[in-house]
Amino acid sequence: MALNSPEAVAQQNAAMKAQLAHVTSLVNKYCNVATSLAGKELTIEEHVKQSGIHTTVVQEAHKLLNAIKGPVDTLFCHFENVAHTGAVRALLDMGVFQALPFDGSSKTAETLSKELNADKELIVRLMRNATIWGPFKEVGVQKYVHTPYSLVYLVPQLSACFKLGQRVLSRPGPAPRIFQTKWMDCPFREVLSQCETTDDTPLVIDVGGGRGHTITQIKQYTGEGIKGRFILQESQIALDDITGELPGIEQQAYDFFTPQLVKDALIYYFRHVLHDWPDAACLDILRNVAVGITDKKRQRVVIADHILPEKGADAEAAWMDMTMLTLTGTERTEKQWRKLLDDAGFTVTRTFRGSGTNYAAIEAFLR
Ligand SMILES: C[S@@+](CC[C@H](N)C(=O)[O-])C[C@H]1O[C@@H](n2cnc3c(N)ncnc32)[C@H](O)[C@@H]1O
Repeated sequence: MALNSPEAVAQQNAAMKAQLAHVTSLVNKYCNVATSLAGKELTIEEHVKQSGIHTTVVQEAHKLLNAIKGPVDTLFCHFENVAHTGAVRALLDMGVFQALPFDGSSKTAETLSKELNADKELIVRLMRNATIWGPFKEVGVQKYVHTPYSLVYLVPQLSACFKLGQRVLSRPGPAPRIFQTKWMDCPFREVLSQCETTDDTPLVIDVGGGRGHTITQIKQYTGEGIKGRFILQESQIALDDITGELPGIEQQAYDFFTPQLVKDALIYYFRHVLHDWPDAACLDILRNVAVGITDKKRQRVVIADHILPEKGADAEAAWMDMTMLTLTGTERTEKQWRKLLDDAGFTVTRTFRGSGTNYAAIEAFLR
């Protein structure tokens, strides 16, 4: 069918209108949920529900754009995206984000060039890319202002994430540390309170726990009244990096490719660790943790990682998996997690997951 034939045009019009109607109805649904939850302290379930609908709206809005652009222009989006990302990265490194006024007033390319000792034409060319759909706004000839979408790059953690994400996606390197707000996790207090413990009982060991941010949170979730120890196990290099206090948390240098040093912990916890590694390495890690398990009914591992759906993964899951690919790791579906744990001698007893999020946890016992 010729692209401009009446049939082809009618088909494309119908596709655009159908997708627009679909997106409109989803936006209404999202607005209703957001309104009903506005001003509330959200539970994890409510947060997950809201973010799940939001993810669907965004995905379907992307499809609407594709329907409007058509297949050929959609292919050319790759060029747009690469150029846009490169321009934003260069403007960050040149200092343009810092040099533009934060109060919403404008600056010209001429002024920016003088202040930053940078080539004016280069600024104009980069800004051409960075003002099409943001993050900056072009308010006159070679005149630019910040918007909320550019100011966000000034949050140090976010601009570091942006730079690191680019590096990780383009070549092997350390995994990004993403800040999660929609994580379904093990009900620590419920699990720990079912066991008799003493002050010496290792309650939770966060293996490869980074700077201790998660084990600190787990201790908080657990609350008062349960006797026992919370332990952070990490490489010595990572432990040396910890500058602040971690009240109530023991720190132990440990290489998870060697047999577990602490026996009898109730929970050996791995968060965002196993997805960095291929199956063969995960089997070594899990077999090493098994060394610490002397009571197969009482002790367990909990793995907090993504569980990908078998079908219909969202964009975040897809790009995270690409990141893991660069480290020779992988995100896994439930089937893959079950097979991995089974091969290591564990049986999965429960998964903790919610609709609308891939962030989940898996509980498994040694057979
Ligand atoms: C992706 S980070 C996850 C950190 C933390 N669990 C979190 O969720 O934020 C992986 C962690 O594994 C640690 N790690 C890597 N190899 C290790 C090893 N052989 N033994 C112990 N920890 C290791 C790294 O230092 C890093 O902190």
